[in-house]
Amino acid sequence: MIRFENVGLRYGMETEVLRDVSFHIPERSFQFLTGPSGAGKTSLLRLLFMSLRPTRGSITIFGHETSTLARHELPILRRRIGVVFQDFRLLDHMTTYENVALPLRVRGKDESSFRNDVVDLLKWVGLGDKLHALPPVLSGGEKQRVAIARALIDQPEVLLADEPTGNVDPHMARRLLRLFLELNRSGTAVVVATHDLGLMEQIDARRMILNDAQLDIYA
Ligand SMILES: Nc1ncnc2c1ncn2[C@@H]1O[C@H](COP(=O)(O)OP(=O)(O)OP(=O)(O)O)[C@@H](O)[C@H]1O
Ligand SMILES: [Mg+2]
Repeated sequence: MIRFENVGLRYGMETEVLRDVSFHIPERSFQFLTGPSGAGKTSLLRLLFMSLRPTRGSITIFGHETSTLARHELPILRRRIGVVFQDFRLLDHMTTYENVALPLRVRGKDESSFRNDVVDLLKWVGLGDKLHALPPVLSGGEKQRVAIARALIDQPEVLLADEPTGNVDPHMARRLLRLFLELNRSGTAVVVATHDLGLMEQIDARRMILNDAQLDIYA
């Protein structure tokens, strides 16, 4: 579904952040992406989301070699990918409900066709009583769950989550992990970037480990 071949990435004239990175993400798979702070996890996720281009190598996403894609083709592919950013990127002037509904509104969908889905998803992540709250009054963990709901509302084929449990207590972290597993069982490929060893020990998933700009894979 997604394939990296000998991908290298550098920012400006710095040394390479990623060097000769090759892997593939099969359909319906679940993997952790780990490695120390600054190892390049977020950078790798940005390549997966096509918000960054590799300096060298080849990235194929849903059968498309990304270097040959025209700019206007990117949003169509991105729609099939859900992302939870490390810094959430919620819109502060919109309610929880509106933040989650936004991707569907942008696509011009009829509000009545998705209203219940948005409410159900927010209940599923435990925010049924915060539908009308604005992000600035939410806790870090609550914001994180809004970001997760927004990433899932359009039923992506792949979910990329960058430290999705970085702001929640261990109990909520387990709940979110179960939520990702449930999603994965229903057919979505999931990539969770984390340095939370306790989280990774809870399930037997593939681990992709970044170290010194290179990627090791443990099945
Ligand atoms: N926009 C940028 N411009 C220049 N250098 C960058 C940029 N973004 C990241 N870097 C550098 O690339 C390296 C990898 O950063 P990245 O954010 O991908 O790491 P990370 O593994 O996600 O770290 P963390 O666990 O702290 O989130 C770091 O050395 C960082 O300073
Ligand atoms: Mg990061």
